[in-house]
Amino acid sequence: MQRVSKIISIANQKGGVGKTTTAINSASYLAKSGRRVLIVDLDPQGNTTSGLSINKNALKSTVYDVLVNGDNSETAIVSSRVKNLDILPSNSSLAAAEIEMSGAESRESILKKALEALDYEIIIIDCPPSLGLLTINSFTASDYVMIPVQSEYFALEGLSELLNTIKRVRAGLNPRLELLGVVVTMHNKRTSLGEQVVAELKKHFPAKMFDTIVPRNIRLAEAPSHGLPISEYDKFSKGSQAYKKLAREIEKRLYK
Ligand SMILES: Nc1ncnc2c1ncn2[C@@H]1O[C@H](COP(=O)(O)OP(=O)(O)OP(=O)(O)O)[C@@H](O)[C@H]1O
Ligand SMILES: [Mg+2]
Repeated sequence: MQRVSKIISIANQKGGVGKTTTAINSASYLAKSGRRVLIVDLDPQGNTTSGLSINKNALKSTVYDVLVNGDNSETAIVSSRVKNLDILPSNSSLAAAEIEMSGAESRESILKKALEALDYEIIIIDCPPSLGLLTINSFTASDYVMIPVQSEYFALEGLSELLNTIKRVRAGLNPRLELLGVVVTMHNKRTSLGEQVVAELKKHFPAKMFDTIVPRNIRLAEAPSHGLPISEYDKFSKGSQAYKKLAREIEKRLYK
């Protein structure tokens, strides 16, 4: 019998807040706990792809070909160095996708269709830093959205626009879309600003904050240049421990 995947968008239209870091490292810890996990790189920057040591320029088929040229997603999927973790990769070709998809029929549901027949327990989609058609495709395909928020000034800026987009998708294209949670990233405990941001977020999302707070940790920033998730690069680092704990919280919320 075919399993139905739980699909999670990792989204925030603000750039550099830790989406890709959260996607790679949560996915890898979920895979290490025995789940069959697919990570979809939906960003033309291809940071998830290269962060998992896949050569972006040597790919025969990518998520772009799946969305625009009708390639079978299974043809484009490659395995990572972590057991149970596969990736649907991307590269800069994806930058043209939004324009090329805009005239297609059911243009918001192309990704949903492409993921439908796949046999994974969990699919994690790393969204680009925008609320354009790619992100709308991700929300249409997903059961959940997870929002990483960097613990810094202006952190909450743009969140209402993001929440409105989720609401709009829920009202039309995808009624089952739910907020899985908000996770604080790159937190520096020593600054009062960071603490203020956490307090502010708790006020806005009393039931949705993840207990895990991801600290600013240099090992997390280094790991992608070695093509490794933190679980393989330095499992004893503070960053690794945080993502391990976060993955457990995600599992709890998915299989409640
Ligand atoms: N907890 C952390 N500690 C230290 N550095 C981090 C941490 N999380 C992410 N970084 C670094 O911060 C930068 C931005 O992170 P990341 O690429 O995950 O953000 P993003 O939201 O995916 O960015 P984009 O919007 O460009 O896709 C990267 O260089 C990453 O290595
Ligand atoms: Mg990213």
